[in-house]
Amino acid sequence: MQIIDGKAVSKAVKERVKAECEELKAKGVTPGLAVILVGDDSASQVYVRNKERACEECGFYSEKYALPASTTQKELNDLVDKLNSDSRINGILCQLPLPSHLDDKEVINRIDPIKDVDAFHPVNVGAIMIGDYNFLPCTPAGVMELIHSTGVDVSGKKAVVMGRSNIVGKPMAMLLLHENATVEITHSRTQNLAEITSGADILIAAIGKAKFVKADMVKDGAVVIDVGMDRDENGKLCGDVDFEDVKDKCSYITPVPGGVGPMTIAMLMQNTLTAAKLQNGIDK
Ligand code: GUN
Repeated sequence: MQIIDGKAVSKAVKERVKAECEELKAKGVTPGLAVILVGDDSASQVYVRNKERACEECGFYSEKYALPASTTQKELNDLVDKLNSDSRINGILCQLPLPSHLDDKEVINRIDPIKDVDAFHPVNVGAIMIGDYNFLPCTPAGVMELIHSTGVDVSGKKAVVMGRSNIVGKPMAMLLLHENATVEITHSRTQNLAEITSGADILIAAIGKAKFVKADMVKDGAVVIDVGMDRDENGKLCGDVDFEDVKDKCSYITPVPGGVGPMTIAMLMQNTLTAAKLQNGIDK
């Protein structure tokens, strides 16, 4: 069994982005990212801080908007409108979830699709479906990078995606399909779950249930990718996969933390770079 080192792979992606950023700067273009955070959710604050730090590492311009929980939909919409028309800003990210009086969908739909570095706008989601896209959603794109880092060829393999969220499960399945995997998606109503997951050459867990995936659910020699960010019975950060139970059955496995997490931010940097190129008429 080999552990896939998400920190090392993400560092390599950020270094590639930084080098390309320097080339862009020589042409007078500095990629710019605006991050909007509403309210005081502590996990969101950590994510936003990490995104700012990654912008610095890559040489990007960044703006952070930390708005109070009392922000109205109109105020949020006005901010998105302002950022849409600001030429220094190439990417706009509104950290989700928003406080319950605000509408995630309204904000996502308002971001100009060419600045939608999360790839959550319906135009970008549709583009992914037909395989003709500018941006890939950050977490699934990061998972594909991790799989590529193993050297395992996805084509023709059986891939099982556990979870059907719009942010991870559904686009994840689509990216695996684009690389010619045979893909199955499981969810909370799936019957005979272990039978399905234990047939997977590539198993992606994105269900948000601490240590749910056990050895009897995993095929010998499988590649196991854990998207979970959960807390165990002692409040310690863990994934959807019971790492200790499963590790000896896999060929490759991602740890939590240090697996998928750092990749999401690296791919956000990649998308912001792509956005800057697109908005300045530079080939991708
Ligand atoms: N909340 C959790 N993950 C994400 C993400 O990838 N993007 C945004 N905008 N919010 C999130």
